[in-house]
Amino acid sequence: METDKPILLSGIKPTGAAHIGNYFGAIKQWKEFQTIGSHQCYFMIADYHALNFVQSAGDMRDLTHDLVLTYLAAGINPEKVVLFKQSDVPAHTELAWIFDTITTMPYLERAHAYKDAEAKGKEVSVGTFNYPMLMAADILLYNTAKVPVGHDQKQHIEYARDTAEKFNRIYGDTFTLPEEFIVPDVATVPGVDGRKMSKSYNNTIPLFSTRHEIEELVMSIVTDSSGDRPENVYAIHRLLKTERELDAVYDEHQGRYKALKEALVEDLDAFIKPMREKYHELASDPRTVADILEKGGQLARERANAKIEEVRRAVGVS
Ligand code: ADP
Ligand code: TRP
Repeated sequence: METDKPILLSGIKPTGAAHIGNYFGAIKQWKEFQTIGSHQCYFMIADYHALNFVQSAGDMRDLTHDLVLTYLAAGINPEKVVLFKQSDVPAHTELAWIFDTITTMPYLERAHAYKDAEAKGKEVSVGTFNYPMLMAADILLYNTAKVPVGHDQKQHIEYARDTAEKFNRIYGDTFTLPEEFIVPDVATVPGVDGRKMSKSYNNTIPLFSTRHEIEELVMSIVTDSSGDRPENVYAIHRLLKTERELDAVYDEHQGRYKALKEALVEDLDAFIKPMREKYHELASDPRTVADILEKGGQLARERANAKIEEVRRAVGVS
């Protein structure tokens, strides 16, 4: 595994079935970086972040296992990248604590995720409040240069960059400043109700849906639209086909929403089918996941442990 390339790192929380928003917003870009080979890539299962949402050991294990299968079925290749689980690298939580000590409450109170939870009157856990510091640790531990994510994560990466700057100012140059990588066209994939597609809104098209599920979900897409194109149908369709290809279809079926939805079902199923087949094929081999995580964990720990030692020396506990 080469180590002199710049580092690229990203992750997803194991909190439910991955959806096409996760694919087009994040995983698709990961695959492109994996193919061009410009960076050493680290792709993580953010299980400690997920603990804020999943509080059953059985569910956590199942969701973690499922997310590894998702990465693999979607085309992430553990021979080319480091695929690992956050909790297998203790330095993440250690560094998050050190960041907590240089971070102020008012600064964290400005985080969108925290403000949203507060606004909804939820009882916010300390883990939710600190979420950006653990994510900063995930990123900065590996001297990450680039973080490919969907638009909703932009602020978290700004937090990581600010935290790196602050630490460097107090303790001397230690961390690389990371940049987000967000593709504008797919920055926010809409769900079937037109809001951002998200596991927490129950409006997703899961990545390995059956043909029947795709049909039901597409038919449920909300189509109150002022123009003659059903915007929510078109926005999802646009992920799969070029504007020119779609112009032909949408002109031919102008105003006929059912026919346009049927065309979307065809295209979605053609896109999902190979991944769905790969997913079921992989699911029948339980050793694969354990072996991959063991190897990835080892590689991630090697790099993270070297960095945390540098941090310990910088703050004077080592
Ligand atoms: P969810 O909102 O469904 O819980 P996650 O927070 O686990 O999704 O997101 C994992 C990755 O997928 C992140 O990089 C996130 O930005 C991206 N992502 C999630 N939903 C979308 C969406 N609707 N459009 C674009 N990217 C998305
Ligand atoms: N917060 C991210 C999300 O909800 C997941 C995540 C955790 C992550 N650690 C990360 C993404 C580090 C990129 C880099 O989607």
